[in-house]
Amino acid sequence: MSLCHLNGNYLPLADARLSPLDRGFLFGDGAYEVIPVYSRWPFRLDEHLDRLQRTLDALRLPNPHPAAEWAAIIATVIAGNEWNDQSVYLQITRGADSVRKHAFPAQIRPTVFLMSEPLHTPDAAQLETGVGAVSAIDYRWLRCDLKTVSLLANCLLRQMAVDADCAEAVLFRDGFLTEGAASNIFAVRNGVLLAPPKSRLILPGITYDIILELAANRGMPNEVREISEAEVRAADELWMTSSTKEVLPIVTLDGQPIGTGRPGELARRMHGWYQEFKNTVMRHA
Ligand code: PDD
Repeated sequence: MSLCHLNGNYLPLADARLSPLDRGFLFGDGAYEVIPVYSRWPFRLDEHLDRLQRTLDALRLPNPHPAAEWAAIIATVIAGNEWNDQSVYLQITRGADSVRKHAFPAQIRPTVFLMSEPLHTPDAAQLETGVGAVSAIDYRWLRCDLKTVSLLANCLLRQMAVDADCAEAVLFRDGFLTEGAASNIFAVRNGVLLAPPKSRLILPGITYDIILELAANRGMPNEVREISEAEVRAADELWMTSSTKEVLPIVTLDGQPIGTGRPGELARRMHGWYQEFKNTVMRHA
């Protein structure tokens, strides 16, 4: 039985109840975060809370808790669940009004919800073979830098990938790579790791930052710049990254091989560095 938090109360997830008038349910009007937890330590909590604050500010949603209270709530949820490695999901919506209307109600209490799941990272077999991806036009809105619960476009795009027996949809806007339906995307060309720049068109991934830090610290040549669709299709390697997928090689795009069609050397190296970083840094406060 997993323990969740709802508006100040801790209770079994199966017992949590919300109003159907909650604006998260009616309008997707809310912010969220997914925080990986290693050996019961929430990783880069400050960075996740900063990203949450940026989303809340853009949504004009007052933050219901200062950082110390968030840390305490998250610690209680972690302690109340059985797994050492977890994925904590945190959501704040604009709350429930008494009527359905688009404009913000004057008086409203935000809904705060947290739950946890076991953290499932890619298994050895998946890392060994890599995964397939499909390409798609990025038809999402122009604030993809915000982590909002309005994820219908992301869900449709991810399902399009699943329907094609693939793991991810690689998105292009105006001929340039943005990101995946639920991950950031990196490319490798001629030994150089390429990342699209942070902008309003991609989510600033916490894992994206780690990958670029590891590349800089270990001397892997890297460039942050716009990457054209043609460059992606002709890349030597393509990776998807996120808190849960870590660094996962994409070996086909629309059924065509990327590079050799096998996970590349730089992906293997980066994955090793990531595991080392996880075991020496992330698992400790
Ligand atoms: N998604 N881009 C998108 C659109 C994402 O949904 C995610 C993560 C990322 C990677 O962010 P991070 O490295 O901070 O996990 C990039 C989470 C895992 C989710 O929605 O479940």
